[in-house]
Amino acid sequence: MTLPGYRQSLARPHDFEPVRVEGRLPDSLRGTLYRNGPALFEHGGRRHRHLFEGDGAVCAIRIGDDEVQCAHRLVESEGLREERAAGKPLYGTAASWPRRLAANWRSRFKNTANTSVWRWQERMFALMERGSPTELDPRTLATIGTTTFDGLVASGFSAHPHRVRSRRADYNFGLVPGRHPRIELLEFPWQGAPRVLGSVPLESHVMLHDFIATDRHLVFFIAPVKLQLGRVLAGSADLDRIFRYDPAAGTEIVVVPIDDPGKPSRFRVEAFWQWHFAGAWESGGEIVIDFIRHPDFRSLGDLNAADLPGRGRVTRAWLDPRAKTLRQEVRWDTGCEYPRIDPRFEGGEHRQLFVTYDGKQSLLAKVDLETGKAETWEPGTGCFPSEIVMVPRDADAAEGDGHALSLIYDEAADCSHVAVLDTARFGDGPVARIHLGHRVPMTFHGLWVGRD
Ligand SMILES: [Fe+2]
Repeated sequence: MTLPGYRQSLARPHDFEPVRVEGRLPDSLRGTLYRNGPALFEHGGRRHRHLFEGDGAVCAIRIGDDEVQCAHRLVESEGLREERAAGKPLYGTAASWPRRLAANWRSRFKNTANTSVWRWQERMFALMERGSPTELDPRTLATIGTTTFDGLVASGFSAHPHRVRSRRADYNFGLVPGRHPRIELLEFPWQGAPRVLGSVPLESHVMLHDFIATDRHLVFFIAPVKLQLGRVLAGSADLDRIFRYDPAAGTEIVVVPIDDPGKPSRFRVEAFWQWHFAGAWESGGEIVIDFIRHPDFRSLGDLNAADLPGRGRVTRAWLDPRAKTLRQEVRWDTGCEYPRIDPRFEGGEHRQLFVTYDGKQSLLAKVDLETGKAETWEPGTGCFPSEIVMVPRDADAAEGDGHALSLIYDEAADCSHVAVLDTARFGDGPVARIHLGHRVPMTFHGLWVGRD
């Protein structure tokens, strides 16, 4: 199978260097866009079978008054250093079966830090859900190393921490395996030390990618995607073989009160899968939740294919934790993923949603969640856009008013650029493009850090 360029390894890791801007960058846009994704897909001539296995690399685009600079650096993980020293792959599907078997039995894996970037208390971390956060120097992207925050992170750490402004804290979770698997709930205040809020026991080992937080609750949609432990111990490392979707079991809804985490509301509904939540808020006795709903778990395999069928739909749900009901309604009936909202509205009520489709249809969209109407822009054939990062025009701008940034890989040029769209004229396409001068493989998630 010939893979598109965004699935090829990074072209040229480098420190910050000037890049070319086409068009005029808005004066309000000063700061740095960070993107993270798998960027090294082979070792010693042997290629990983799934996109998720690639070593992470962070790409940073720094927009100043006089110059725009870009840096692209691999996360120098312990596993990557070991593989370089050995001259061959030691982990995952690229490794030989005996090596995989030995690694699996010893519960050893490579923390690729390839999924997202998280900023907390002026520190920066590259995240992947199976391992601890990897701290980076935000000025240089140099890898500092993994941290458990003094033992707080027991095992995994989701790549999707969520910010709740009213509580002046970020929340996250980690899956803890073992005989009694559980979800560990973590609170990271904007000042002071992080803490474990509590834990939620699980019936089985599952895949759980994201959750959502409101002023009062942490909400989990636990789909029946179960880890096949026997296959892991037999040395399998194929992601789509070690997880099994069991729709008969349904999707479990878990609602944890932040101030009383020992008393969650739990119930099951008809099975569905979701990778990503967009946002949620409290409304009377209900929680309103926006997310991308998938009818099943086929997207794990689809992600690895060159063309994504796009089964995810923008969906709004009304969750009543006391009545134990979840009502769902599709709000935009077009295949999409990577939902993002205006960052000022995280943890609160919102109606503007930005989504991306990075398959054959290749489009970016701004969706009004109240009316279900969308403005779209198509980057064109052979252009693969990444998740939109939304930057408000200023602190007082209306919700969703500002600029949408998407890192786009252009196959014909084998180069990537950042498209800058004015959200007030979303369908007109970019007002400026920042040309990086080389390929950046697919990135999953990123963030904007404004200049102080
Ligand atoms: Fe994600």
